[in-house]
Amino acid sequence: MNTFKMLTTIHFGENALDHLKEIPYQRIMVIMDPFVYTSGLYKQITEPLEAAHKDYTIFSDVVPDAPLDKISAGVKAFLEYKPDAIVAVGGGSAIDSSKSIREFALKINPYGKVGLIAIPTTSGTGSEVTAFAVVNDTQAKVKYPLVSDSLTADEAILDAALVTSVPPSITADTGMDVVTHALEAYVSTQHNEFSAALAEKALEICGVFLPRCYYDGQDMHARQKMHVASCLAGLAFNTASLGINHSMAHQLGARFHIPHGRANAMLLPHVIEFNSDINHASRSQKEYLPAVERYASVAHVLGLSSYNPVMGVRSLVNWTQFMMKEMAIPMRISELKTISAVEYFDALDDMAEKALNDSCTATNPRPVTKEQIKHIYTKLW
Ligand SMILES: NC(=O)c1ccc[n+]([C@@H]2O[C@H](COP(=O)([O-])OP(=O)(O)OC[C@H]3O[C@@H](n4cnc5c(N)ncnc54)[C@H](O)[C@@H]3O)[C@@H](O)[C@H]2O)c1
Ligand SMILES: [Fe+2]
Repeated sequence: MNTFKMLTTIHFGENALDHLKEIPYQRIMVIMDPFVYTSGLYKQITEPLEAAHKDYTIFSDVVPDAPLDKISAGVKAFLEYKPDAIVAVGGGSAIDSSKSIREFALKINPYGKVGLIAIPTTSGTGSEVTAFAVVNDTQAKVKYPLVSDSLTADEAILDAALVTSVPPSITADTGMDVVTHALEAYVSTQHNEFSAALAEKALEICGVFLPRCYYDGQDMHARQKMHVASCLAGLAFNTASLGINHSMAHQLGARFHIPHGRANAMLLPHVIEFNSDINHASRSQKEYLPAVERYASVAHVLGLSSYNPVMGVRSLVNWTQFMMKEMAIPMRISELKTISAVEYFDALDDMAEKALNDSCTATNPRPVTKEQIKHIYTKLW
């Protein structure tokens, strides 16, 4: 048996933030990304709350990749204030921090039901609709996804006006996170018709509108499309889960602080090649690995032509590399200049072990060994 559920009510489109005036909560903890605070963007959230006479407090001590010490500071602030809802405003890091703060705080003091309203300010993670929260254990140098329905936001508000300030490089990284969610969900061992429909639409949007957002951050039509695509891809992987692209990207984020979407983008061509084994299956043949047909069919959605499934997969690999070049995303770790070959290769064994044990590995379409993960990391250098 398979189940498809959507636990989050989604409000989207123009003036979606007006919904904040109608939320059934009085005492609100607004957890936000520091950029949202310093840029004044937060007023778009607090003004409707004030208009509706809500009480609120602001917590903005959030940093990329939700480290555990910042989450404990948030838990402390939460238990002091005892809100009846959290409004989370920011990228995946702020939303994941909020999910973890509510989860851990209510384990310590289960004083009642506390709502969670997620308002993304990047078009990337889809965290506003997923049961995932990625946390970063900085001491153990490992990032791992927590997965539980109780983490899921009750409501999500998608207002693309909040995303126009995202600079091109973060637009590129977060946009490629959307592409990776859609592709991994599409080929996952748990893929189903619901996840496929969501992933196909998300990818179709990315193919057309991600470069437009990159070139012109004020292109509202493109921003709106990508904001929805991010949410669709989130719904897709929430039901089908992900694969080793994410397992491996989590380690690059934890160890070397490579932004999540960028790490995913850099790995993507290598992971597609591994999952389809196209370097061996280079000719038309009767049987391919299961991912080949699926990658080939999603290549059609992107309008890529091919005369056999392997060519379809090759076109898809080329397309991912084209997107990266268009948006100035480095192809190799050595291009980043901030990581030495010695530190990278010293970390390889440990990263491969942790990636193998990451919960996303279980649904990868091709079973993988630690040695194969090390090989992919080596190619990435
Ligand atoms: N929970 C999930 O389902 C899920 C899925 C994928 C990734 N993640 C996690 O989410 C995190 C990444 O989230 P992200 O990619 O959204 O990045 P992020 O939240 O880390 O933000 C990246 C940068 O963008 C800035 N920023 C955010 N909004 C902005 C705006 N409107 N204008 C200008 N700058 C802005 C932030 O200040 C930050 O410097 C990672 O930890 C990743 O592992 C979670
Ligand atoms: Fe992701």
